Amino acid sequence: MRFADRVANIKPSATLTINAKAQKLRQMGVKIINFAVGEPDFDTPYHIKQAAVDALKKGFTRYTPASGIIELKEAVCEWISKYYGLKYQPHNVLVSCGGKHAIFNVLQAVLNPGDEVVIPAPYWVSYPDMVVLTGGIPVIVPCVPENNFKLTAPALRDAISEKTRVLILNSPSNPTGVHYSAEELESLVEVIKVRRDLVIISDDIYSRILFGDNKWVNVTMVDHDLLDRTVIIQAVSKTYAMTGWRIGFAVGNEDLISVASKVQSQSTSNPCSIAQWAAVEALKGDQSCVNEMVEKFEERARYVVGRLKAITGVRLVEPQGAFYVFPDLSPYYGRQYKNKQITGSVDMADYLMEEAHIAVVPGIAFGDDRCVRFSIALSDKELAEGLDRLETALKNLEG
Ligand SMILES: Cc1ncc(COP(=O)(O)O)c(C=O)c1O
Repeated sequence: MRFADRVANIKPSATLTINAKAQKLRQMGVKIINFAVGEPDFDTPYHIKQAAVDALKKGFTRYTPASGIIELKEAVCEWISKYYGLKYQPHNVLVSCGGKHAIFNVLQAVLNPGDEVVIPAPYWVSYPDMVVLTGGIPVIVPCVPENNFKLTAPALRDAISEKTRVLILNSPSNPTGVHYSAEELESLVEVIKVRRDLVIISDDIYSRILFGDNKWVNVTMVDHDLLDRTVIIQAVSKTYAMTGWRIGFAVGNEDLISVASKVQSQSTSNPCSIAQWAAVEALKGDQSCVNEMVEKFEERARYVVGRLKAITGVRLVEPQGAFYVFPDLSPYYGRQYKNKQITGSVDMADYLMEEAHIAVVPGIAFGDDRCVRFSIALSDKELAEGLDRLETALKNLEG
């Protein structure tokens, strides 16, 4: 059968491939410790689930407006005002089926074939493929661990061409967990300001999962002049342990949101009516569940960082938020096991899966082949056992 060229150019999700391999080993009775998960290990808080039950009982089971219910759009505006100090109206909000879908709709709304999108690497796996699906061209800018994997103003200036239409920023980052400070964003804004037609997608879905003294800030908070051409991406998925409910938001310029809403209206229509009411409760209800979860992630991050740093040859940029660590294991590349040579992050992930029975995501999927991604959304017991296994597996490669 013949398929569309644009689909031939995208890759299947790396995490799905890893999970399929893990599943195969599990079926053979092997106990895999899964560091490849991209979601909190906590259950959705009770009061949020209860709001869904209430919605169901009240009969909110029909189509809603395609871009989301007004109550949820208002809740998003209140929430953004509380955490960003920015004022938006419901017409600035599109409610989509997760943050991923919100980004997809925005890219569909702004890109023409041949338009370029600047994406700093390491990046979240789906950005380049979503750009390719629109006919756009991802322009990947490698960011080095020596600069904490962050984009610099000179690198951004070099990456921007006549064809650049969009810049995607993600802070705190999946996979590195690093977060841009106000000063770092100010230096990027100097470059962004010059290109008045550039749209910025600020993927902020980990904004509330920040550790220590790190303060939440994004480009629009640094420079209000960018408000009109920045789209904020948010979701209840990670913040409220609601990955399966599929509710995310795009917030920004009214015209852009209206075009992105049109895209959604001709594809999925509204996100699940019941999940939308659960999201209203998530955003407006008791927020202590978020603080408890973040405390736990921070404690685990400290533990995992300590353990990884103690392993010979492992290099690491410490995460400031989210729930991932992205260590550089490349000093072990070139080593052999069972007559196979480890040449990159895919081989390393295969080795760790086969020999240590731990699942990690190869860094190449995030645009950096030196590293692999570990999620820290695992129980303390699993983290300890998984890191013991990693330590032994890497030791076995030495010599
Ligand atoms: C940086 C980033 N953006 C967006 C998403 C998509 O989130 P959602 O589950 O709300 O679609 C993810 C999920 O892993 C992510 O890590």
